[in-house]
Amino acid sequence: MSQKPLGLICAIPNEIQHFGSAFEKESEQDIAGFCFYSGKLDGVETILVEAGMGKVNAAVVTTLLMEHFNCRAILFSGVAGGLDPELGVGDVVVGNKLIQHDYGMTVGEKLTAYQPGHLPIHMPTEKLGYEVNAALIDKIMAELKDFELPEISAEAAGGTKRQPVITSGTILTGDQFIGCTVARDQLHKGLSGLAVEMEGAAIAQVADRYQVPFIIIRSLSDLAGEESTMDFIKFLEETAGGAALVLRRIINLV
Ligand code: ADE
Repeated sequence: MSQKPLGLICAIPNEIQHFGSAFEKESEQDIAGFCFYSGKLDGVETILVEAGMGKVNAAVVTTLLMEHFNCRAILFSGVAGGLDPELGVGDVVVGNKLIQHDYGMTVGEKLTAYQPGHLPIHMPTEKLGYEVNAALIDKIMAELKDFELPEISAEAAGGTKRQPVITSGTILTGDQFIGCTVARDQLHKGLSGLAVEMEGAAIAQVADRYQVPFIIIRSLSDLAGEESTMDFIKFLEETAGGAALVLRRIINLV
């Protein structure tokens, strides 16, 4: 019996290109201006698509992957800004929880995040974010335990070349590129996020509706501070490959 395909989303060409010849394209289909490539990634039936940036693009593409291709799980590979001071450029975060940090209510200049869809007025949220099945995360992290990514260059590492860390934790999503140490520290302390990006929790929200698993893998292109736009441009090429290699390593577990 043939298995349903995986859906694999990247936001930008610099992220998708790292799958290179590992992805054998069989056909392509344009829907709503997005190009969906059907083929095999390391032998696994996969629909690969570049969504563009932001939560709405991510939600539309995830919905189309479900409605047109009946995917059995949705994966994302790309870059993020680091929030946890313990992590550096090039490190990789596998999301075990995805939170939309920009959905909520602002009072006295402070935004309190709520679960998407909740009325964010005087209504404590019991649930915040979308969790990945713990057994799946355990399996993935066990597989990655001895997995070594290429070294991070001295420039990206901010001194000496080093081996990237691969960890799992909360990833935050919002329709904003974070380039501010104050905002970064608030996001890290307030929501315990390890990394921030612009698509993951929107994918999670749609996958949750369809009751299919989702895996979001992010390598850090920058550390979300004032230097982040420069670092993003400088290190995007070098770092985006780390997430793609991690995804290829775990593809058979999903
Ligand atoms: N993706 C990569 N870096 C990011 C940042 N600093 N903020 C949001 N998304 C990002």
